Amino acid sequence: MSINKGRFITFEGIDGAGKTTHMDALEQAWKQAGHEVVRTREPGGTPLAEKLRALFLHDAMDPLTEALLVFGARRDHIKAVIEPALARGAWVLCDRFTDATFAYQGGGRGFDLQVLGTLEGWVQQGLQPDLTLLFDLDPAVAAERLSAARQPDRFEAMDRAFFERVRGAYLDRQRAQPGRFAVIKADQAPALVAEQIQAELRSKGLL
Ligand code: TYD
Repeated sequence: MSINKGRFITFEGIDGAGKTTHMDALEQAWKQAGHEVVRTREPGGTPLAEKLRALFLHDAMDPLTEALLVFGARRDHIKAVIEPALARGAWVLCDRFTDATFAYQGGGRGFDLQVLGTLEGWVQQGLQPDLTLLFDLDPAVAAERLSAARQPDRFEAMDRAFFERVRGAYLDRQRAQPGRFAVIKADQAPALVAEQIQAELRSKGLL
């Protein structure tokens, strides 16, 4: 059970799933409802964690280094931003969190899930999102959305098989903790994706 007064909501999915538009809409809706909204992202969200993000996205490293770096950034983010925000009653919207580590480092890279679980316990000390919106879609569709976009980072440059594993690992996390997740069918038109999100949030009393 969380003693936090606020709400911690995370947004997950493979690259090209289309999270950003819907995060923008929810940020506006919750602000209009009178909540303090803290919009943030991982890796990142603090000056230190943003520096680590630049290394993480662009420098070659082995999977353990990758995992340690992202959990290091996460620790700083939790202590400096997420916990204080939740304690004062804010609604924290975070673009990716630990499910991404299980999906990308665990599923994508094949790194040891038990080690990730240990790091999760040390770094989060029980902190978990109240709700995770998982934008699920076929990596082939996601890749088409990304193709016109900017210079790919180390992850966006990975092949289809990598993203199939990432997708599978996200769904494994969802099956292990079904109550925390809402799976959104993200291959539909933006208006239909928005409808699914609204229905999920209403059913949980969050909208
Ligand atoms: P992303 O959130 O997609 O931001 P942008 O839209 O600006 O590219 O980029 C973050 C990348 O980092 C994404 O490819 C997933 C990856 N990532 C991990 O591999 N592990 C993690 O724990 C997190 C949080 C992200």
